[in-house]
Amino acid sequence: MDDKYLLEINNLTVTYGQFKIITEVSFKVRPGEIVCIAGESGCGKSTLIKSVLGLKQLGAQITEGSVILDGRDITRLGVEERRQILGTQIGYVPQNTRGSFNNIRKYDVQYKETMNAHNLPFIREDAIKLFKRLNFPDTERLLSYEPWEMSGGMNQRMAIALAVLQGPKLMLADEATSVLDVTSQKEVIEELAQLRDELGWSILFITHNLGVASHIADRLGVMYAGRMVEYGDIRKVLDDPIHPYTRNLLAAIPGKDRKMPVGLEGRPPLDGAEWEGCNFVPRCKYACEECKHKKYSLNEIVPGHWVSCAEGRGEK
Ligand SMILES: Nc1ncnc2c1ncn2[C@@H]1O[C@H](COP(=O)(O)OP(=O)(O)OP(=O)(O)O)[C@@H](O)[C@H]1O
Ligand code: SF4
Ligand SMILES: [Mg+2]
Repeated sequence: MDDKYLLEINNLTVTYGQFKIITEVSFKVRPGEIVCIAGESGCGKSTLIKSVLGLKQLGAQITEGSVILDGRDITRLGVEERRQILGTQIGYVPQNTRGSFNNIRKYDVQYKETMNAHNLPFIREDAIKLFKRLNFPDTERLLSYEPWEMSGGMNQRMAIALAVLQGPKLMLADEATSVLDVTSQKEVIEELAQLRDELGWSILFITHNLGVASHIADRLGVMYAGRMVEYGDIRKVLDDPIHPYTRNLLAAIPGKDRKMPVGLEGRPPLDGAEWEGCNFVPRCKYACEECKHKKYSLNEIVPGHWVSCAEGRGEK
């Protein structure tokens, strides 16, 4: 396996106050690779992204582990060093872009401020060229609008374009296309993948939509209650899912039969709840006595496919 990585997340544990939100998560992203992270609401996907961005300002704390970007542990950087890295090396499209722009200031002012804050020049023509490339409508006038004049979807696309314009090595996209209609979603995803091919970016892409993941990702990680339970090459995980939770997620995708998908019964454990064994026990139809007492960590079942489950280990 190629051992050169742009991003390495090692044994990461993150807490909000007394609550453990991310527990011992490890995975790596190679240059030029798109990694999607999926999992139900509240499993810690956004917290994972925020841990790469720097959590102190966001109320969370890394209590264990490291986040290595291009060989440097960025959890140990000071505020100013981190600010320089954000924007130039890391681009971020937040889950809620309504909150990331000031609603009553023109986009061009806000674009300029953000670029300048990262010591980058704002070149209007470059922005318009990018809008055209991303098939935005009304490209010549877009920058003179204020966000309140735009739909939520268009605002999201403006946030994506701003992150792209900064030319990062690593793009963090938290549900970046979820508020777009299906056609715009497909266009933006294809453009992001194309830009990745041309510019060699890595993208960490959070999504609820496994169809989107299937389309864009090289690798897929599935999180459950703050832990990574399955990770690997996208085709291996989607075509041969091993963890019972991943199988449930795939079964919940609406089919052509137009029947309502069957959701998974029960709820994930409460934030920070400590479990002696596997924390999927209450919802797992394969759970056995041993699962209640033994912790399973990610194990490479076949090359390029890791699972944390007794089933995957062939121990059942
Ligand atoms: N600032 C905060 N303070 C305390 N707890 C928080 C904070 N932000 C998130 N949490 C909790 O951390 C857990 C993980 O939240 P997170 O936003 O990372 O989940 P998510 O997987 O991104 O969910 P969604 O799919 O709904 O966006 C949730 O239980 C949430 O309630
Ligand atoms: S370890 Fe046991 S309880 Fe946990 S997911 Fe696997 S089979 Fe289910
Ligand atoms: Mg989220």
